[in-house]
Amino acid sequence: MWRKLFSRNNKLNYTVNDANQLDPDNIPAHIAIIMDGNGRWAKKRGLPRTLGHRAGVEALRGIVKAATKIGVQILTVYAFSTENWKRPASEVDLLMQLFSEYLDNEIDELDNNGVQIRFIGKTDELAETLQKKMAEAEQRTGCNIGLILNIAVNYGGRAEVIRAVRDIAQQVLAKKMLIEEITEQSIKTHLYTCDLPDPDLVIRTSGDLRLSNFLLWQSAYSELWFTDSNWPDFRAEHLIQAIANYQLRERRFGGLKNPK
Ligand code: FPP
Repeated sequence: MWRKLFSRNNKLNYTVNDANQLDPDNIPAHIAIIMDGNGRWAKKRGLPRTLGHRAGVEALRGIVKAATKIGVQILTVYAFSTENWKRPASEVDLLMQLFSEYLDNEIDELDNNGVQIRFIGKTDELAETLQKKMAEAEQRTGCNIGLILNIAVNYGGRAEVIRAVRDIAQQVLAKKMLIEEITEQSIKTHLYTCDLPDPDLVIRTSGDLRLSNFLLWQSAYSELWFTDSNWPDFRAEHLIQAIANYQLRERRFGGLKNPK
């Protein structure tokens, strides 16, 4: 039933030129993407999964550019979850290598285009060389005022909440905070995305209809959009289609449209 409900998204009726048709006053400020389906994309072509991930990097390059052009302010992409360590070591190593290559190859262009790169997740558990590269990229682009590109690596929504709860518990134990001061707002200040608005739109590619531990707290009132396209096939046209669909929705945040 759900698949049927969302199947209307799978016919791509948009071209890159349709970006002009979007309502400029209702562009989602923050879009989050679960970039799924690299493996399936490769399998369909009889290719190794590694090539699917490499094609996924290309798709990301295009979407960062498209999002900037459309006027999206924040793009958060799910690159590696706290559960992805369960994959074969060779695939994990390849993904880590790709993150490193991405920074080597893209940093100049991203910086020149004003993109501010941030990493969210338990990055302290990654290889030190990669951590160093990530920190350098964050530092180099930290003052940029264009698109904020949050890359979630070793990220899990539950782990993020645990981290916040532990920080808060420590503050309470140290008598720096009262129990009554634990609110939605104070919890937010302990999340990786503490200074950012919640995602307006969460996109997941490749047909699965779930959040897979992505931005669990932040997506409470996000609009969700799913497509059967695998991530390596995801283009500006798909992003435009997702935003056009978002613009048709009425967001009430639990309230009423016309309260009397
Ligand atoms: C899910 O596809 C994708 C991932 C676990 C990795 C996402 C990584 C990229 C798109 C590579 C580039 C990222 C950066 C930040 C440079 P899957 O492997 O689960 O596909 P499947 O479900 O079809 O097997």
